[in-house]
Amino acid sequence: AALVVAIDGPSGSGKSSVAKEAARRLGAAYLDTGAMYRAVTWHCLDAGTDLDDADAVAQAVRAAELEISTDPSLERVRIHGTDVTETIRLPFVSEAVSAVATNLDVREEMVRRQRALIAAQPRIVAEGRDITTVVAPDAKTRILLTASEEARLRRRGIQLGEADAAALQRQVIERDAKDSTVSNFTRASDGVITLDSSDLTFEQTVQAVLTLVDE
Ligand code: C5P
Repeated sequence: AALVVAIDGPSGSGKSSVAKEAARRLGAAYLDTGAMYRAVTWHCLDAGTDLDDADAVAQAVRAAELEISTDPSLERVRIHGTDVTETIRLPFVSEAVSAVATNLDVREEMVRRQRALIAAQPRIVAEGRDITTVVAPDAKTRILLTASEEARLRRRGIQLGEADAAALQRQVIERDAKDSTVSNFTRASDGVITLDSSDLTFEQTVQAVLTLVDE
């Protein structure tokens, strides 16, 4: 791709909404790599694959027919023809995904597919946990989008309405702890720009990303 913007960050940093909007304004494609990990996790659960059996999980993921939309205005994920766009956001998937995403053979396969999807687009914004470091370390712009724990919980609360704040807090903290084995979000690696959105509005964050892309 001629333009690659790589954005990493923890859950609740708002990176998906920000990356999607930045992609629209740049006239670029958008890749949600978290959706890919969620889809293969759903597939393993659906197929009854034992998540503790690393080889079985890796085999299921390598064989998975995964289709993901890279249109920032059309969210769609299919696995073996089944539309899982909505299902992969459910808590039973969120709770299982770290177990699958920490499997190194799974990561190797996902990275391979993500690189191919990125290469197929002239312009793309890709977001996840390891895009700036592993998937697209040569991206034109690499951003680590962070937000304080307080800001992330506040945004979750707004997204989920009447939900129980304590339970949400536990979920966010637990998932970060599991994900920290994949990537370290407390410190950006060399050449990656940290963008702290704690005190920024959505629009200000999108503008900050576009300024960093600087076309
Ligand atoms: O971004 P999202 O919360 O949808 O990601 C779901 C999960 O997928 C993360 O909690 C993480 O375990 C995994 N993931 C990953 N590497 C990526 C993107 C997501 O391990 N590049």
